[in-house]
Parts: sequence; structure tokens; C-alpha cells
Amino acid sequence: MKDIKEIDLKKIKSPGGSLSFFEKGKDIDFDIKRVYYIYEFCQENRRGFHAHKDLKQVMWCPHGAIEIDFTDGKETIKYILNDPTKIIVVNKGYWREFVSLKENSILCVGASDVYSEDDYIRDYNKYLEWVEENYEKDTV
Ligand code: TYD
Repeated sequence: MKDIKEIDLKKIKSPGGSLSFFEKGKDIDFDIKRVYYIYEFCQENRRGFHAHKDLKQVMWCPHGAIEIDFTDGKETIKYILNDPTKIIVVNKGYWREFVSLKENSILCVGASDVYSEDDYIRDYNKYLEWVEENYEKDTV
């Protein structure tokens, strides 16, 4: 799954606290047109269960710990976001599921486009068909 990157950001410490940042051209290759965040997680329930046909995203967890499982239909990779200096940059086309591992966790997402339900694939079997139609073998 070459199009998912985990990046460790710099942490700039000062007496007043710490600061991290990411930038287009260095860490991400798209403009962010929308930011959303998921909070008040119910720890028992997984979320996600979808893929995006075109959307690129950057994800970070400013507080708490979130597990995100990505799959391309063949392989699954598990990421843990548990530090504000970590980001995950994910290209289009990956099925994802996620769950909060700690109370009061927050998941922030910067997305390459505004919200469109048409960009979602929410049925796993349809996702597998979509992968088959849209990607050559082993290129996702
Ligand atoms: P969804 O992306 O399915 O959330 P998750 O992946 O966490 O399960 O979105 C949940 C609901 O919120 C769904 O009805 C669509 C809506 N929504 C918006 O209206 N705008 C947005 O930017 C997002 C991300 C979701």
C-alpha cells in the first residue's frame, strides 16, 4: 500500500508549550478544502467502513489514541495515531475502519475536497469490484 504514508512531524518546544505543523509541497501534495474532526467517540464502536474514489486525506490525532485499519482488498495495515506529531497521508482508494483506543480521543482530517456522498463507497463488496475495475494488479 504505497499510497499511505506515516510522517513524524517536528516538535517545536517552548516554555509556553509545543507546536507541530505540516505543509503542502513538503508533507502533503494537495490543497486542503475541508477540515473535519471526530470526537466524543464511542469506544465500543468502530467507524469508517468506507473508501473514497477520489478524496485524499491527511489525518492526525491531537489528543488520545486512534487505531486506523486500511485495506486495499488484499492487504490490511494497522496504524496507531497516538501522538500529535504523527500524521497519516492517505491517497484515494483505500477502505478504512477506525476505533478510539482512549477516552476523549479526537481524530482530525484535512481533505482534498468538500463533502460529497458520491465520492464514498460504503459497501465492501462494491469496493472490491471498484478496485478490480480501477487498479491494475498490485498497484493500489
Ligand atoms: P462518515 O464519513 O460516514 O463518518 P465515519 O467515517 O466516521 O463513519 O460521515 C458520517 C456522517 O457525517 C455522514 O452522514 C456524512 C456526514 N458528513 C458530512 O456531512 N460532512 C463531512 O464532511 C463528513 C466527513 C461527513
